[in-house]
Amino acid sequence: MITQSTGQIDATTAAVSIRGVVKAFGTGDARTVALKGTDFTAAQGELHLVVGPSGCGKTTLLSVAAGTLDWDEGEVSVFGTVLNNMPRSRVTAFRRQHVGFIFQQFNLISTLDLVENVSVPLLLNGVRRGEAEQRAAELLQRLGLAGKERKRPTQLSGGQQQRVAIARALVHSPRLLIADEPTSALDRETGHQIMDILSGAARTPGRSVIIVTHDPRTYSYADRLTEMEDGRVAGVYQGPTLRDFISNHH
Ligand SMILES: Nc1ncnc2c1ncn2[C@@H]1O[C@H](COP(=O)(O)OP(=O)(O)OP(=O)(O)O)[C@@H](O)[C@H]1O
Ligand SMILES: [Mg+2]
Repeated sequence: MITQSTGQIDATTAAVSIRGVVKAFGTGDARTVALKGTDFTAAQGELHLVVGPSGCGKTTLLSVAAGTLDWDEGEVSVFGTVLNNMPRSRVTAFRRQHVGFIFQQFNLISTLDLVENVSVPLLLNGVRRGEAEQRAAELLQRLGLAGKERKRPTQLSGGQQQRVAIARALVHSPRLLIADEPTSALDRETGHQIMDILSGAARTPGRSVIIVTHDPRTYSYADRLTEMEDGRVAGVYQGPTLRDFISNHH
């Protein structure tokens, strides 16, 4: 639920609610505190952008939200399910069902062809192979990869690999889709096609899309934008403040 007048997100119905999260990597001299008591909220039905300089903690924040990375302090809930103290196996099951993740480095499986790569989330959710591969092939075609279904990821360009990663994250229609720089390797037209698909997914009731981006071409698709700086949230923009942010950063 979003209160229209103020743009406030009701925490109990948020897609993602992160409260006071601290996350450090390494120990001693090598210790880096990536999240320093970070608060972050994403609403259902919205496309939410996360921006900020390299190293400010964007990937770390989204990995915590996706349930792929443990954190040290604070509370994380996704669609009202509190992930704190949940056994790892239940977090994994929850993530497989409800979360799609487009990784900054794509993370495609080099020994599998494209259809097999994109089928993985469906197979993990119990869909039979024949149906999974048919749905994977259809989505690859929608993303402009017709004719390449049986190629390996290494036989593709960077932009094509990025689209395979996007297909894999979308194929099981996850309620929460998290994308780390999904347009970085794409030309202008493909970038806009992908943003159209992602914003369509975001505005489906009960779903949410969160995107890390350095790409100002994506800003106009945002319903809300969080700016991070040095492990903390520096600003949240929505409505008129978002329009000001966009005009100051184009
Ligand atoms: N696995 C790790 N081990 C040690 N330090 C890490 C690890 N992952 C991230 N860090 C550190 O945590 C900080 C935040 O990293 P993070 O990857 O979240 O930044 P980012 O905002 O996503 O940057 P970029 O825009 O370059 O992708 C950085 O200082 C980084 O060096
Ligand atoms: Mg990153």
